[in-house]
Amino acid sequence: MVTPELKPIETASKYTFCVTGAAGYIAAQVVQRLLAAGHIVHGTVRNPDDSKVTFLKSLPNSENLKLFAADLLKEGSFDEAVRGCDYVFHTASPFFMKVSSITTYTLLLISIHRVY
Ligand SMILES: NC(=O)c1ccc[n+]([C@@H]2O[C@H](COP(=O)([O-])OP(=O)(O)OC[C@H]3O[C@@H](n4cnc5c(N)ncnc54)[C@H](OP(=O)(O)O)[C@@H]3O)[C@@H](O)[C@H]2O)c1
Repeated sequence: MVTPELKPIETASKYTFCVTGAAGYIAAQVVQRLLAAGHIVHGTVRNPDDSKVTFLKSLPNSENLKLFAADLLKEGSFDEAVRGCDYVFHTASPFFMKVSSITTYTLLLISIHRVY
């Protein structure tokens, strides 16, 4: 296996990156920096038509961003997004919260109490 040379992205050659969960908190920063550095980005989101991904389409250099629909719970759904990529930033992360309604109510009360 060849380990890629690590350089600050701003000074590196131009590459194609896949960023999973592209609209997420961390991924959006990564996408923004990669586009700013002139790279091609394949961003995955579960629903490219969701209004919460619209901001990605207005980032500088967004003409170099292509969004793909992909879900970690659907086998093979990332195949198209990673095809032709040099690197992958895998930040997508499913979050499951299975708690009783009384626990949810208690968590909400604590959150609200701390905010106000
Ligand atoms: N934020 C932090 O300070 C921090 C610190 C340390 C580690 N981390 C880790 O870094 C990762 C990203 O964190 P984050 O704060 O950026 O989280 P985030 O904003 O919640 O983003 C996670 C992304 O994962 C995607 N996702 C959720 N379920 C998915 C599924 N089934 N298939 C495909 N995509 C799915 C969501 O995409 P959709 O747009 O499709 O909903 C979402 O945009 C997590 O593993 C987190 O534990 C975060």
